[in-house]
Order: sequence, then C-alpha cells, then structure tokens
Amino acid sequence: MAIANQQSGPNPAKEWEMLCRVSELKNGEATRIEIGDLKLSASKINESIYVVSDMCTHANYSLSDGPLHAGNLTIECWKHGAQFCLSTGAALTLPATKPLDTFPTKVYGENVYINLPRKGNNE
Ligand code: FES
Repeated sequence: MAIANQQSGPNPAKEWEMLCRVSELKNGEATRIEIGDLKLSASKINESIYVVSDMCTHANYSLSDGPLHAGNLTIECWKHGAQFCLSTGAALTLPATKPLDTFPTKVYGENVYINLPRKGNNE
C-alpha cells in the first residue's frame, strides 16, 4: 500500500511517538486513539493520514464519533454540527470558534508515527 506522506530512511521511532499501525485505520473513517492523557482523532483519506485533537473545542465531545467528510477534508461534531478542517484544524462552522490542534504524521513500514510537542517546550 502506498501512503502519500510515507517516509523512508532512518526509523523515526527515536524522534516520533508511535500512533498505530496503518492497518488499524479504515479509509474515510475517524479513529479515536489515546496516547497517555492525549485524546486524538486519526483519519486516513486518499492515502494521507490526518491527526487532530479528538475533543470538539465547543463542548468537549469526541469528534471521532461524528461523520468524516472525505471530499472536503473535514470532520463534523455529532453533538451540535461544528465542522473542522483536518489539515489546519480550523473551526469552519459554528458553534465552534477555536481550532483543533493538528499533529504531523509519518508512515514508516506499517507503523504511523506522530510528532508530539516535547514537554517543557513553550513554542
Ligand atoms: S460539542 Fe461540538 S459543536 Fe458543540
């Protein structure tokens, strides 16, 4: 399987946290994944993988439980219908106004890695 953001070279596990295996993500669906107390929503669309924070910025409901709109790269909150861009995290429709956090990903072999902010880094 070819993944658009697939990387080659050194194993990124030394700098990146493993998120899941590629096979755990269904094309066109959001999957909730937790790393420690961080709740994430991972989506595979057209051979690219998008990871955003899973909690809606309007009222903390899980976005992975709502519909994914693969055609326009958005995820919709099932509770009140706010839509967010999977690429930028931007809140595109009310009632949400604050963006989601987004996380860069790399695929190495069958594994998906995520770049998390380092603790103590205020940037
Ligand atoms: S909780 Fe998501 S739009 Fe209200």
